[in-house]
Amino acid sequence: MITIALPKGRLGEDAEKILLETGITKIPVERDSRRLIFDVGEGVRVLLVRAWDVPTYVEMGTADVGICGKDDLMEQGTDVLELVDLGFGGCTMAVATVNTVAREELFGRGFLRVATKYPNIARRFFDGLSLQTEILKLYGSVELAAVTGLSDCIVDIVSTGATLRENGLHVVERIFDSTARWIVNRRSFYMRYEILSHWTEKIKKIVKEKLP
Ligand code: PRP
Repeated sequence: MITIALPKGRLGEDAEKILLETGITKIPVERDSRRLIFDVGEGVRVLLVRAWDVPTYVEMGTADVGICGKDDLMEQGTDVLELVDLGFGGCTMAVATVNTVAREELFGRGFLRVATKYPNIARRFFDGLSLQTEILKLYGSVELAAVTGLSDCIVDIVSTGATLRENGLHVVERIFDSTARWIVNRRSFYMRYEILSHWTEKIKKIVKEKLP
């Protein structure tokens, strides 16, 4: 049995599409049901997990392979093989603040309170600038922290930019660009090299075909 960790949420549909297109999975998962485990072909099952949790399932070997965002891999520092950049799920990890505060003004302050779902990325970034910060870990709607003054700025992913625009915020620094990745458990890749390298090549081929 080979186990795939498939993300729920924004990456979910594209992630599943690529698995179906390559024939790695044969049957779509029923997203409307409350089921979490699906048989999707002979000897292949899918675990439907929060995108954030995909790296953990793969690192621990509970899933052999998975699809997750580079942003989550960077934050968690997970020890997995990151074998293919899938190209979809594009977003930018950025520092943003209210429109009335410019970049120079923000970074010129001696101390910053930063709200984020990504405390490790935020800490690394501000440490690199030798800026003193207090990092506030939040679990969602991080933009609200900057709007209400809970924090001086936020570190968060920007996709369409709509959430920032609609809340009077702007990007002052792009930290890195993120896309979805095909990740593989180290031991599984070694133990099941034939099938997993075959799957990886199929995925690479489809990704290449989709390139503009
Ligand atoms: C993400 C991110 C931003 C938003 C950016 O949140 O944290 O809030 O999407 O997308 P946009 O640039 O297209 O507006 P998500 O919707 O995943 O969940 P959350 O608000 O619960 O954090």
